Amino acid sequence: MVIDPFGRSITYVRVSVTDRCDFRCVYCMAEDMTFLPKAELLTLEELDRLCTAFVKLGVRKIRLTGGEPLVRRNVMWLIEQLGRHLGTGALEELTVTTNGSQLERHAQALYRAGVRRINVSLDSLKRERFEAITRWGKFDKVMAGIEAAKAAGLAVKINMVALKGVNEDEFDRMIAWCGAEGFDLTLIETMPLGEIDGDRTEQYLPLSLVRARLSERWTLTDIPYRTGGPARYVRIEETGGRLGFITPLTHNFCESCNRVRVTCTGTMYMCLGQEDAVDLRSALRASESDEQLLQAIRDGIARKPKGHDFVIDRRHNRPALSRHMSVTGG
Ligand code: GTP
Ligand code: 5AD
Ligand code: SF4
Repeated sequence: MVIDPFGRSITYVRVSVTDRCDFRCVYCMAEDMTFLPKAELLTLEELDRLCTAFVKLGVRKIRLTGGEPLVRRNVMWLIEQLGRHLGTGALEELTVTTNGSQLERHAQALYRAGVRRINVSLDSLKRERFEAITRWGKFDKVMAGIEAAKAAGLAVKINMVALKGVNEDEFDRMIAWCGAEGFDLTLIETMPLGEIDGDRTEQYLPLSLVRARLSERWTLTDIPYRTGGPARYVRIEETGGRLGFITPLTHNFCESCNRVRVTCTGTMYMCLGQEDAVDLRSALRASESDEQLLQAIRDGIARKPKGHDFVIDRRHNRPALSRHMSVTGG
C-alpha cells in the first residue's frame, strides 16, 4: 500500500485510455478539438503493464475513462486482461465511465470481463437538449446502450453535470427516471478544466443550492454509502434510489482523496486540479523490468498535493487549468 504525505492511502487509479471522444459536450470540449497524435498514446500492452504495476502497489480499484474509453480500438482486450486481477482478488473493482455511445455492443463483454458497475454520462432525457449539449451525441443510441447494460446485469450510475439554465429544470425528472430504472444518479458541479467555446461561469450551478431546492420536493436522507469516489450520497425516500453530489467547488473533498490519475500518454497527475505530474511512459519504456516504473509511481505519490484550488473565475472566462478533462481522465 502506498501512503501519501498527508496519510491518505492511494487505492484508486483512474486511467484515461484515449483523449478522443465521439461527442463534443459543450462543457468539456471545443467543437474543433485537436487530439493527440496516436503515436503518443500508450499501447494497450503498456496500459496493461501500468495498471498491473498499480495493483502491485496496492491499488484496489481501477476506472477506465477518457475521452470515451470505448472508442479506443480493442479496448476490450485491455479490460479482459485487467479482469484477471479481479479473479485473483488483488483488485476489488474494475469499472468504466462512458458516454454510452458504444455500450450496446460492449455491455455483455464488459460483464464477462468482471465489470459489475459502470457510470454513464447523461445530462438530459430530452432528445433535442441532449443532442444540443453533446453536440455529436445520438440520444437513442445512448438509451439503447443503457438498456443493454442493465440487461447484461451491470449496475448503472448516471452522471449528470448540473448546468445552469440548461438542464436545471430536469433534476426531478431524472431522479424519477433513475428511481424507476434502478439506477444511482450523481449530480456534478462543472469544473474549470480546459478551454471550451462558451462561458463556464454562466453554466456553473452550485449544488448546495440544488440540494436545497430538491429537498422541497423529495425527502433526502444522508446515507454513509461510499464508492471510493468523491460523491456524498442521500437516499430519496420516495423512489428508494440513491443520489450523489460531486461538489469540488462548494465542498472540497480533498482530505479523503484516495486516487491518482494517468493520462493516455502515461503522465500521472497526483491531483485533478494541479499541474505537478510524473512521466510514467519513460519509466515504462526504459526497461522491461517494472522496478523503475514502480519507483516512479512511488515518487509521484510522495509528492501528492494536499488538494486542488479550483475557482470559477468570474471576471475572466478562463479555465483554472488549460488541460482538458478528456486528457486527464476526469
Ligand atoms: P464512483 O464513485 O466509483 O462511481 O466514480 P466517480 O463518481 O468517482 O467517477 P466518474 O468517472 O463517474 O466521475 C464523476 C465525476 O467526478 C467526474 O466529473 C470526475 O471528474 C469527478 N471526480 C472524480 N474524482 C475526482 C477528484 O479526485 N477530484 C475532483 N475534483 N473531481 C473528481
Ligand atoms: N466539469 C464537470 N464534469 C465534467 N465532465 C466532463 N467535463 C467536466 C467538467 N468540466 C463529466 C462528464 C462525465 C464525467 C467523467 O465527467 O460528464 O460524466
Ligand atoms: Fe466526450 Fe465525456 Fe467530454 Fe462529453 S464529457 S465530450 S462524452 S469526454
